[in-house]
Amino acid sequence: MTAGIFPLDAAAAEARLGELAAILVDAVEQGASVNFMAGIATEDAAGFWRRQLPGLVEGEKQLLVAEEDGRLVGTILLMFAQQPNAPHRAEIGKMLVHSGLRRRGLGRRLLAAAEAAARAAGRSLLMLDTESGSAGEALYKACGWTEFGRVPGHSRKPNGPLAETTFFYKRL
Ligand SMILES: CC(C)(COP(=O)(O)OP(=O)(O)OC[C@H]1O[C@@H](n2cnc3c(N)ncnc32)[C@H](O)[C@@H]1OP(=O)(O)O)[C@@H](O)C(=O)NCCC(=O)NCCS
Repeated sequence: MTAGIFPLDAAAAEARLGELAAILVDAVEQGASVNFMAGIATEDAAGFWRRQLPGLVEGEKQLLVAEEDGRLVGTILLMFAQQPNAPHRAEIGKMLVHSGLRRRGLGRRLLAAAEAAARAAGRSLLMLDTESGSAGEALYKACGWTEFGRVPGHSRKPNGPLAETTFFYKRL
């Protein structure tokens, strides 16, 4: 079955916090460097998503999801810069596809949907960062993003060691 990709507003996100949390826990458990450490509790993952709700209400953020067979299987969070001198800029975060459904084009589709949403919101410059050498890095390169630097020891991997982070931008 083909997954649907669509935005989730704050009310829908609140109603589906458990599914969103499960996607985040799965990514961390599989070793993804996405701000959390191994052993992340489901409540902490749900707490992360709960803290995004006000931003969704205010229009400072937009959450897009992939759904397959009635279950959320992927996420991407678009964060619109709020600085007065950056009305053209936005950041991408929580680009996650459930580990059982990777390499089927879902990541590429979620990213394209987020880029389209950013463009529709009048944003023309996107930025993000990801662990060097990760699947994320491969995805962003495959989708035409430009690398602009690497910071050694930027973040800890879920199992502890410090790892390098690669920074990317894309002009829309
Ligand atoms: C990164 C992630 C979202 C990719 O999702 P996905 O649905 O598997 O990606 P896609 O199937 O759309 O891949 C699109 C292209 O990206 C590249 N790519 C994606 N994953 C890759 C991998 N593990 N190794 C090499 N290339 C990869 C390939 O070019 C791929 O095209 P192809 O399959 O035709 O070769 C997914 O691996 C994931 O959730 N990882 C854990 C969380 C994470 O690290 N997110 C990024 C944090 S910023």
